[in-house]
Amino acid sequence: MAGHPKHLEDLIGIEHPVIQAPMAGSTTPELVAAVSEAGGLGSLGSAATPPDSLTEAAAAVRSLTERPFNMNFFCHETPSESELDATGVRARLRPLYLELGLGEPPEPAVPPIAFNEDRLAALLEIAPAVASFHFGLPPDSALAAIRDAGCRVIASATSVSEAAYLSDHGVDAVIAQGAEAGGHRGSFLVGGDDGPVGTFALVPQVVDAVDLPVIAAGGIADGRGLAAALMLGAAGVQIGTAFLSCPEAATHPLHREALRSARSDATTITRAFSGRPARALRNRFTDRAESDPLPFPAQLSISGPLSRTAAERGSPDFLAMWAGQAAPLAREIPAGDLVEKIVAEAEGISGRAWPPMPYGEPEHG
Ligand SMILES: Cc1cc2nc3c(=O)[nH]c(=O)nc-3n(C[C@H](O)[C@H](O)[C@H](O)COP(=O)(O)O)c2cc1C
Repeated sequence: MAGHPKHLEDLIGIEHPVIQAPMAGSTTPELVAAVSEAGGLGSLGSAATPPDSLTEAAAAVRSLTERPFNMNFFCHETPSESELDATGVRARLRPLYLELGLGEPPEPAVPPIAFNEDRLAALLEIAPAVASFHFGLPPDSALAAIRDAGCRVIASATSVSEAAYLSDHGVDAVIAQGAEAGGHRGSFLVGGDDGPVGTFALVPQVVDAVDLPVIAAGGIADGRGLAAALMLGAAGVQIGTAFLSCPEAATHPLHREALRSARSDATTITRAFSGRPARALRNRFTDRAESDPLPFPAQLSISGPLSRTAAERGSPDFLAMWAGQAAPLAREIPAGDLVEKIVAEAEGISGRAWPPMPYGEPEHG
């Protein structure tokens, strides 16, 4: 099937093909509204938000902007608590618990962060312009209800096979998440930490494989990245790490500080924090290379107390500081200005009026 760029702007009613990535724990209504007001698509990372707080979070965005915004959820399978064997992890983390004076590591628990009936009900009620999903998709019946509520549906793929799966299940656009990306790999059919494909290689392959707008994610932080993604056939970009340094983001101060001095090789993909592969700034915790974490998201219940306690004492040693490989390109400017700059830089490169059409219909063999 011949891939070709499609206009993301028309699909979701935005001016610029720039999506601020949903980042659970780091996005605020202020960040989301600033991006949407600037003509991009702001996204609330809603995975960890309790279902009864979702309406409040959406209302806070709507009090700041009338423009479209996105709400994002996780579609992982939840492990049952009784099946968790934490003996090894607890033994390995025991010295760190003792070092921080926390006593014995706790019995594991499973944080209730998966997309479920309660979150679906809240989402249908809120009906944001866009609903996006990570780690796969909700069941077809839920997807149909979400579309009936008027939401466009987008989701992350880290391989061509995942992009094809999303397309077969009727999403409106596919996010091609390359290896450079900060935060959790959205992988659900392939192993997320086993030779992940880079954005530059993944995007054109996904463009060729699905007849949908493709959104490039991973390692994009400025107009050069946007222009390059469009040249690869993407219809737009989803940018996470570069927004962490904006004043509107709820980035932990220690994380913000670490981003300031991050170098291009400062990150690594690790399962140590949550049990799923995710790209983070290296620190003492990632350097321990946990080989056998609990299944996602149960590992969070064991790594969390260490993260929080050390951070409260001013140390980033055990903090999950999600970041992508383009972290050094981040600029500490308001989110709306960042959207405008990225678009202006890309316009300067493409040298033509927005929206650029990098090439016409490509002919595929
Ligand atoms: C701090 C942080 C948190 C993230 N949380 C989420 C999330 O909750 N949901 C999601 O779909 N993607 C999440 N991501 C991944 C982004 O959607 C996106 O794939 C990634 O940020 C793109 O790469 P970049 O960071 O190099 O821009 C997160 C990324 C970061 C940096």
